[in-house]
Amino acid sequence: RFEKLWLAAAFVLIAAFIATIVYGSLGAGVAMVGDEGGTVDPGDPTASDNFREPGVYQTGDGEYAVYVEARQFAFAPGTNEPIRVPADAEVTFHVTSGDVTHGFELVGTNVNTMVIPGQVAELTVEFDEARTHHIVCHEYCGSAHHAMEGTVEVV
Ligand code: CUA
Repeated sequence: RFEKLWLAAAFVLIAAFIATIVYGSLGAGVAMVGDEGGTVDPGDPTASDNFREPGVYQTGDGEYAVYVEARQFAFAPGTNEPIRVPADAEVTFHVTSGDVTHGFELVGTNVNTMVIPGQVAELTVEFDEARTHHIVCHEYCGSAHHAMEGTVEVV
């Protein structure tokens, strides 16, 4: 009976650690505008349609949505072609996984999330300068995990 209590306490602790990482302080050159999670709803065609053609979409004046699908061992887009977004724009990343749990981190910034199959991680950021950011997968996802990377070009 007490084991269940301890298990529950451990889960709360783990959740707290993850929350701390996700809501951590601002990274260099990147302002975190918002951070909200979502779930892929098979009944909502707009939600799943967005991932049929992953890529960068302009959604408004100075607003962009970037749909990224992570799979062993690439980000699409990101790995084979860079994700290209303008500086000083509000950029919302929607990241999902087509297979196992991955990570999505822009090295040296606070853009850092777990990518869980069946869920959409959402992060809104504003890049304040033109530069290239390195994307890495920071969750072990298989034999080529260490080589799973990509680039975001802020132009
Ligand atoms: Cu994908 Cu590690």
